[in-house]
Amino acid sequence: MFVLINLKTYPCDPVAVAEAARDVDETTDARIAVAPQATHLERVAETGVETWAQHVDPIDYGSNTGHTLAEAAADAGAVGTLINHSERRLKLADVDGAIRAAERAGLETVVCANNPAQIGAAAALAPDAVAVEPPELIGTGTPVSQADPDVVEDAVDAAARVDEDVTVLCGAGISTGEDVVAAADLGSSGVLLASGVAKADDPAAALADLVEPL
Ligand code: G3P
Repeated sequence: MFVLINLKTYPCDPVAVAEAARDVDETTDARIAVAPQATHLERVAETGVETWAQHVDPIDYGSNTGHTLAEAAADAGAVGTLINHSERRLKLADVDGAIRAAERAGLETVVCANNPAQIGAAAALAPDAVAVEPPELIGTGTPVSQADPDVVEDAVDAAARVDEDVTVLCGAGISTGEDVVAAADLGSSGVLLASGVAKADDPAAALADLVEPL
């Protein structure tokens, strides 16, 4: 299972979470990665944890003030990037452009989507992975795998109809090892989560619990 921890703009210590994730990664078969804010990419990558960007823009080198260039994220140590997160939505053409920019920079891609129909559309753009996250469950602590298991199964089917090789993750409300196992049972190959770790009193313990049953 791929466990991708999005730190969003939560006021956690990104390096402390990254070090905890790196240490837990060494104890499990699960693949763990951390997606900090762009300004923290370099410090997080220096811990040795697999580091992801939260977003890249559909741009190339040039006059793009305030944008995030995929090559800059890669230079800072990112090996992958989220695209079209529910909190950083893009137009379809820009999702496509961001995937191409990430590919150009050698970044792995996970395109987020709200529902199975959008997952099908996202898979058609040929990212490495798609992630279904019902926005109404994000940050609630109610796991998508329990609250809406059909959306995960339907997303897996929708992605497979378009591209049998695309990886499907799910997210929203995932915070325990039980939630991760439920996500796997529904056909997902990984989870995308944030508050369960970034807002935990003890992120290292929360991470250990997440991968314990894997
Ligand atoms: O990117 C992860 C995400 O949006 C889910 O957030 O806090 O429900 O785990 P959370």
